[in-house]
Amino acid sequence: MNQASRIKLIAALVAVTLTALWGCSKRAAIKTPAGIVLRSQSISLPSHGRQFAGGAQASVANTYCLMCHSGGMVMTQPPLGIAQWQTELHKMITTYGCPLPVNDIDQLAPFVAQASQNPDSLAAPPR
Ligand code: HEC
Repeated sequence: MNQASRIKLIAALVAVTLTALWGCSKRAAIKTPAGIVLRSQSISLPSHGRQFAGGAQASVANTYCLMCHSGGMVMTQPPLGIAQWQTELHKMITTYGCPLPVNDIDQLAPFVAQASQNPDSLAAPPR
């Protein structure tokens, strides 16, 4: 094999390899009957990281209220009374599937009512 043939062979191998790698890195796509192409996408959301602080109910809130959304969801509500928070906790359980035991609602509602109006209720997690 002469020098020119060797260079052509190497170039062909590089081209095949690059084509294969490019094909693997493309995301799977599905074309709908209407001709719309759907591709999987990956996004990174910023992690909130802050936790409730201040007593036993803070630990309950950290366990049950931060698994789907950040504490900011609690902290950005208008002032709600304890009964309204009880309703809210019921909604988290029945509508969204929060595993908080129903029996814990009466104890947790006053904590989140107070916490939602107190910026110090969310503290940075220990490092
Ligand atoms: C299983 C998932 C899940 C858990 C666990 C959960 N939530 Fe939610 N929460 C949601 C979803 C979904 C929404 C609606 C988000 C939206 O509309 O953008 C929501 C919204 C909220 C809101 C905004 C008002 C509303 O009704 O939409 C508050 C306040 C809230 N959650 C509090 C809590 C508290 C307190 C806890 C802990 C007891 C909790 N959540 C646990 C899923 C959950």
